Amino acid sequence: MGIKLAVVGATGMVGRKFLEVLEERNLPIDKFYVFASAKSKGSVLKFQGKEYEVEELKEDSFDRGIDIALFSAGASTSLKFAKIAASKGCVVIDNSSAWRMDDTVPLIVPEVNPEDIKWHNGIIANPNCSTIQAVVALKPLDDRFEIKRIVYSTYQAVSGAGMGGYDDLLNGVKGIPQKKFPHPIAYNVLPHIDVFLENGYTKEEMKMINETRKIMHRPDLKITATTVRVPVFYGHSESINVEFNRTFEMSQIFDALKNAPGIVLEDNPSMNKYPMPINAENKDEVFVGRIRRDESVDNGINMWVVADNIRKGAATNAVQIAQLLIK
Ligand code: A2P
Repeated sequence: MGIKLAVVGATGMVGRKFLEVLEERNLPIDKFYVFASAKSKGSVLKFQGKEYEVEELKEDSFDRGIDIALFSAGASTSLKFAKIAASKGCVVIDNSSAWRMDDTVPLIVPEVNPEDIKWHNGIIANPNCSTIQAVVALKPLDDRFEIKRIVYSTYQAVSGAGMGGYDDLLNGVKGIPQKKFPHPIAYNVLPHIDVFLENGYTKEEMKMINETRKIMHRPDLKITATTVRVPVFYGHSESINVEFNRTFEMSQIFDALKNAPGIVLEDNPSMNKYPMPINAENKDEVFVGRIRRDESVDNGINMWVVADNIRKGAATNAVQIAQLLIK
């Protein structure tokens, strides 16, 4: 027997991708529901060859035995509706930032900490897109060489800001003023993702720092981050500088990454081969390359990590969590 599954925020950038990934992975779904805001009520979405009418999300939306709901409708919607859904016996997999740092909510990347699924109380959080791809690459290295410090510098696609971000770049190259970002993103680079906090960091930067610690079960890990929006539609790129407590040979670093789940090594400088967002688009793997020793410290490396932020960074990771749950 199959499950009853709902997508909340189904008309959005990530919501639409949920439908695509669910279809590809052929989850055993008996009943399927799509929710969005009142604005989208009555519009139609296609799934597995059938048409589904979008319903307005309401407090009684989960009163019909829904087993799993994938949420991507923003933090305020999740704050209001995830608990309601969970109280009706539904397990919510939430893509917003609302519950990620809640101690009673596991934050899961299936390649890294699948064991945390055991202690959920009806809500499971999907990490921030830039964190997901980073920890997939860092986990096999932490297991072997014990990470001492991480420096993140990101180059993030506009689709990470939803439809509005995508439209700003599309319109920006035509000279139409931006609506979502505070400055033009076409032909520009913005060292600013999400809001600024009192410590001078952006919220996106603090998400990367705090979420990495929680997922890797390393609460005291030293991490710093600079997150940057670049004029790319899909695919986040990250320069990651890592220092380890243990010594290593570079061949051991390559071996650890080569044999880790969810990673594709793309590292052949003589052939100009390295990860790029244009090649990662629509893929589920995390691509790693430009791996080299950091000669300025005792035990460090630099690497370049790229993934499709809407797939592995959001929809694919959430669907993988649903697959873990069903298993
Ligand atoms: P709608 O399209 O009806 O506004 P994105 O991140 O691409 O902007 O998408 C956000 C998603 O969240 C959309 O599907 C949007 O629906 C949905 N959404 C926004 N606010 C609400 C709300 N209050 N209740 C339900 N869905 C919402």
